[in-house]
Amino acid sequence: MSLSSGLEGIVAAETILSEVDGEAGRLVLRGHRLQDVAGHRSLEWLIGTLWTDLVPAPTDEPTLRAALGEARLAAFDSVAPLLPHAARLAPIEALRLLLAAVPDDHKAAPLHLVAAVAVGLAAVLRTRAGSPAIAPDPRLGHAADLLRMIRGANPSDAEVAALETYLITATDHGLNASTFTARVVASTRAGLASAVTAALCALKGPLHGGAPGPVIDMLDAIGSPENAEAWLDAALQRGDRLMGFGHRVYRVTDPRSDVVKRAVMALGGAAGRIRFAEHIEQAALAVLARRKPARSLQTNLEFYTALLLEALEIPRDAFTGVFAAARVVGWIAHAQEQMAAQRLIRPQSRYVGPLPRAA
Ligand code: ACO
Repeated sequence: MSLSSGLEGIVAAETILSEVDGEAGRLVLRGHRLQDVAGHRSLEWLIGTLWTDLVPAPTDEPTLRAALGEARLAAFDSVAPLLPHAARLAPIEALRLLLAAVPDDHKAAPLHLVAAVAVGLAAVLRTRAGSPAIAPDPRLGHAADLLRMIRGANPSDAEVAALETYLITATDHGLNASTFTARVVASTRAGLASAVTAALCALKGPLHGGAPGPVIDMLDAIGSPENAEAWLDAALQRGDRLMGFGHRVYRVTDPRSDVVKRAVMALGGAAGRIRFAEHIEQAALAVLARRKPARSLQTNLEFYTALLLEALEIPRDAFTGVFAAARVVGWIAHAQEQMAAQRLIRPQSRYVGPLPRAA
């Protein structure tokens, strides 16, 4: 049996949800190119499209939007007793706690889980800042309400559009590490809340969804354009990874990066910051090409995500939680798809330890 330690090149599932074409730099979401959805459709439209015939929830856009609004209200009540403890944790760990409290036999688990991530994240951020959590407004779209609950004030239409574009872009992405985790847990028939909680744990790491906060740390540490090359070179010399660069599948470009970059540019107001980031990006690509010539390492989703979430005044340690607010949609769809496939995921390991002595 051949060994693939990171499972690269192994196909472990068939899915109708998304296609990640690494050679073409293309992402298809259930038959639609990412570029044709982000900025053109609502998040609720995409949730309904991804979930159709897979997830037990309404999937036509207006009904789903109303049901998700009601689910946010219900989630606000159910997370409230856990907030004092959750708010003492890092936001992503707080979400881990809140999701772990959702029963697997919750009657409306799919919408409740989507709602709980958004409502829980906002409530945790408010609580730790010493402010009361803000109740959801079920009449709003999910992106608008998430931003309003975090910020405590109504965001502008442009801000909502930017966040919605990001959430759409991050909703689903083939068999990434967290989605694979969701499918593994779902394949054991453990239940949807368990699958989603496990997926969140996989998302947390800096090689996956934990990257965007450290992107801002990197920009801060570099400080000014003239430091870029020396700083980046020294980081690679130490064996560090540059956050926001590289991808397991994409070789030419990560199409999500372009979409999110356009969204942050459309926001306006951060032109100087974007120019600085572009300078760092070019310097990083040059240093990576020089030091890692064997591998095509390009900008990934997380680099401009960090700038977008920073421009929306979201605290940097909450960036991964916002990512989770999007990806939970994909985790649920994949978990349901895996459950329908009725196949336990159970690969093998190759034993390289000592053998028992012959009797
Ligand atoms: N910075 C420096 N070197 C890198 C980077 C990077 N960002 N990415 C890959 N490399 C190097 C590796 O060190 C390795 O070099 P070597 O062959 O000299 O040892 C080579 O490129 C291949 O690396 P792998 O680990 O095989 O690449 P893999 O496909 O497993 O990694 C990953 C993908 C984890 C995303 C990687 O590119 C990385 O660590 N990036 C930084 C973290 C990041 O941005 N994460 C977000 C990913 S996007 C998302 O999850 C939504």
